[in-house]
Amino acid sequence: MTTLCVTLQIFLVLLVSVTVATDVTTKDEDQVNTIDSKFLASIYNGIGPVLNPPLAENTIELELPIPEQIHIAYGDVASEMIVMWSTPIPASSQVLYGLAPNNFSLSVSGDSVDFFDGNPDGLHYLHRVKLSNLIAGQNYSYKVRSDNELSDGYIFTAMKDGQDWSPVLLVYGDMGRIGGAPSLKLLRKEAASGLVDAVLHVGDFAYDLHTDGGKIGDDFMNRIQSIATRIPYMTAVGNHEIEFNFSHYRYRFSMPNSPWPMPLDNMWYSFNMAKVHFISYSTEVYFTDDNLIDVQYQWLLNDLQEANQPENRLKRPWIIVYGHRPMYCSNADSDDCTTLDSKVRNGLEELFFTQGVDLIIEAHEHSYERLYPVYEGKVLGKDYTNPKAPIHIISGAAGCNEFDGVCVNAMLGPRGDWSAFRAWLPGLYGFGKLHIVNETHIFWKQVLALNGQTIDSVWIEQHNHGPFNIADFDFEIENNDEEEDAWWLSD
Ligand SMILES: [Fe+2]
Repeated sequence: MTTLCVTLQIFLVLLVSVTVATDVTTKDEDQVNTIDSKFLASIYNGIGPVLNPPLAENTIELELPIPEQIHIAYGDVASEMIVMWSTPIPASSQVLYGLAPNNFSLSVSGDSVDFFDGNPDGLHYLHRVKLSNLIAGQNYSYKVRSDNELSDGYIFTAMKDGQDWSPVLLVYGDMGRIGGAPSLKLLRKEAASGLVDAVLHVGDFAYDLHTDGGKIGDDFMNRIQSIATRIPYMTAVGNHEIEFNFSHYRYRFSMPNSPWPMPLDNMWYSFNMAKVHFISYSTEVYFTDDNLIDVQYQWLLNDLQEANQPENRLKRPWIIVYGHRPMYCSNADSDDCTTLDSKVRNGLEELFFTQGVDLIIEAHEHSYERLYPVYEGKVLGKDYTNPKAPIHIISGAAGCNEFDGVCVNAMLGPRGDWSAFRAWLPGLYGFGKLHIVNETHIFWKQVLALNGQTIDSVWIEQHNHGPFNIADFDFEIENNDEEEDAWWLSD
């Protein structure tokens, strides 16, 4: 079976290489990002997928409230940090902290909840503590305590003050407990480096958080602990979180400006970071509860209008949104993004265009794709200088758990002219790094988890931040004269 799997992987790698090479003949930008087939084969050879190892032995003594699954997230304002963890039995919720290093002179208590819904076999007691009045940009040491059980010590950095700094974020979706192992290795190094500020995990966790009665979720949360204790782990909800009314997502994470556990009608939020207004939205409202579509839409509209108030857009010119399911993709499956009548695109594209969203980060497709500025299927210029429409980037290759770890969605479907670069790399997982350089420049790159090699990068330069306007279109843009929907069929 192992030999068969390895053979299959090599075949798929070679197939991908041919696909990438074929793309090079039609897409100039691909030429600078060509992935050599020998390189792919060399780094893939002998590695193979990570096949379902058993859950780690549970060495927790169930009668003790030993904290595990510790993770942090930004609070409602920049001077807050949320700390969460789990215990197997009821216990107190306390964080000891102080200015680093090794200073735990302050303490603050919080709340806990009993989490049983869809979680019969996971740890039932989830704790949440809010740290307030943190000094901007300072490193803090902290430990969590439940009754007499104290965790190891960790360090986080409070968000820096104001707008004049340049955050770096790790960005990915679709990371499984097992399939995510290669990405996790490098992500842990990145988090430990002290050179990145936060994570954006754009939906689909663990595969799935509720699996095995919640044990898979517990294991996943422990696997990301070394990342999520160091930098805030900011999330969006995906389709793999739907079960049990999204209970695992709503309980296990606490996000800014939303109660905890997150209510079903508030699984979206925004926060400010340097020169960016970030928004996390739910694509799942379009597939689960029609009543929530308008609730979220109105919230998004209000939030975006506030972000576009002149004084706010001046301070934070970049608006970056992230939600799980893409509006466009060239994958060979029947997902929403492959259809001419995409629910997500119909629901949100016009809003994001008219409100001047600069960048839309998506996942769900287990591959990587970067789009040109696009609106209603029309490419509005094939460069990234002063784009006239939002730019979509789909980074869902962190490592799902499907197909025995050879986790990829083939990209052999119709490819619109909006597709600037695409890569589907069996077993070669990866994630994005987003660098907010200043008010006019951001830099994005997608890296391979195995060695950190950059497979794609782009500078986005915008000197005219603000709502996009259909009246401003250059009517010589490509595709504009083509028949309706013809964009979809080009390849
Ligand atoms: Fe998904």
